[in-house]
Amino acid sequence: MMMMHLLLLFVLIVECSSWGNINVSVDQKGGYQISIGDRVWLRSARTAIHVDNKWYSSDDDSLPLINITSGSGFDPQLGDYRDFQLNYDLARGGIHTIIVGHIRDWYSISGISFHLDTGDQILTNTVPLGMNDIRTVFPSFHIEQIDDGDQRGYFTFEGEMAGDDKKHAGRWISSSQIVESGIESGPIVIFNLTQQGEGDLLILSPFSQFMSSSFVQTNTSTLEYGVLGSILSIPSNYNHSMMVFYSPNGINLGIREWGQMMQKEYNRTQKYRSADLTINYLGYYTDNGGYYYYNTEKGVNYEETMVDIRQRLALPIHYLQLDSWWYFKGAGDGVSKWIARPDIFPDGL
Ligand SMILES: *[C@@H]1O[C@H](CO)[C@@H](O)[C@H](O)[C@H]1NC(C)=O
Ligand SMILES: *[C@@H]1O[C@H](CO)[C@@H](O)[C@H](O)[C@H]1NC(C)=O
Ligand SMILES: *[C@@H]1O[C@H](CO)[C@@H](O)[C@H](O)[C@H]1NC(C)=O
Ligand SMILES: *[C@@H]1O[C@H](CO)[C@@H](O)[C@H](O)[C@H]1NC(C)=O
Ligand SMILES: *[C@@H]1O[C@H](CO)[C@@H](O)[C@H](O)[C@H]1NC(C)=O
Ligand SMILES: *[C@@H]1O[C@H](CO)[C@@H](O)[C@H](O)[C@H]1NC(C)=O
Repeated sequence: MMMMHLLLLFVLIVECSSWGNINVSVDQKGGYQISIGDRVWLRSARTAIHVDNKWYSSDDDSLPLINITSGSGFDPQLGDYRDFQLNYDLARGGIHTIIVGHIRDWYSISGISFHLDTGDQILTNTVPLGMNDIRTVFPSFHIEQIDDGDQRGYFTFEGEMAGDDKKHAGRWISSSQIVESGIESGPIVIFNLTQQGEGDLLILSPFSQFMSSSFVQTNTSTLEYGVLGSILSIPSNYNHSMMVFYSPNGINLGIREWGQMMQKEYNRTQKYRSADLTINYLGYYTDNGGYYYYNTEKGVNYEETMVDIRQRLALPIHYLQLDSWWYFKGAGDGVSKWIARPDIFPDGL
């Protein structure tokens, strides 16, 4: 009976294409792949979950796929989508929890999103995995050169300063280290090097629960997305999601289009950015690279130096930027007290 359902569904769901060039296909074993035109860009790897300090995974049948169902849905911001559901049976002792991986193919945006519903039980570990690990895996993709004609590259943000510190780029091949540490990872852009990055690209990014999920790269070069490993307890009826966004317009414009889609989904406008003082007016900066970065005028303290700038500078500045030199620091040179040090601003700020 179950086999029949699977076969019927297989016919229904293979090759659903909603937007121009990107398409997703799902096979009867729960494998999925994303193509651009007639070229495969991403092939899936396992689905897995770590609970009761133990891995349950689709690749060793400890997280078996029950069936695949399909339907449709509507999102108030982004409109209609087709929804494929991979239903897995998480069996622990006598408890069965249905874990559902959703694959959503959108009609009005050029993207495929992946959502994981972790079911109606609280999923607990007593021994945490590392903060650079994850404890749920869906979706996951092989990092691979598909064939000799496949010349693709990647770019990713990573680390501090909004991902600026460890941003890096390279070839999209299994030997590349794309994600260095999970907790510092950011969105990943994959592009076609044959087109000099000016044509097709995919942007892989979190789509919800931004603070509690991340990407990791396994030692067998799969890219996995999920809940941070150091989180001990996943609430019941929890879900999170990831987006694979497509653009044919090259890296710069493609990232803008992705940003517009994210702003639309989260109902954000440019209003705060447009009204921001620091963007609209000239200011004086004392950050890394500036003359007064951890440096004062000779013989005077920081307070006098800053007052002098304000009084003597002929330019119509609207603000002064005070960098990390003025407050109290603690662990890792982080802020310990957000007040002016008396040796820096004796009269306070
Ligand atoms: C979908 O992708 C497959 C490759 O997986 C490709 O052969 C097929 O032509 C694509 N279908 C559409 C409708 O674009
Ligand atoms: C698929 O599995 C789910 C979870 O066990 C079940 O609720 C549903 O009825 C099944 N659907 C089909 C079409 O077999
Ligand atoms: C990259 O672009 C070239 C030239 O348009 C094309 O022949 C090739 O199939 C593309 N590669 C992929 C992986 O899409
Ligand atoms: C890869 O990692 C897995 C666990 O994540 C471990 O069991 C395996 O030994 C590792 N393999 C290599 C080659 O390091
Ligand atoms: C997913 O979680 C959000 C809260 O984060 C909730 O509003 C939404 O209804 C959930 N979706 C599903 C399908 O459970
Ligand atoms: C989106 O923002 C606009 C303007 O702030 C507001 O009128 C609207 O109700 C918001 N919609 C949703 C779904 O939050």
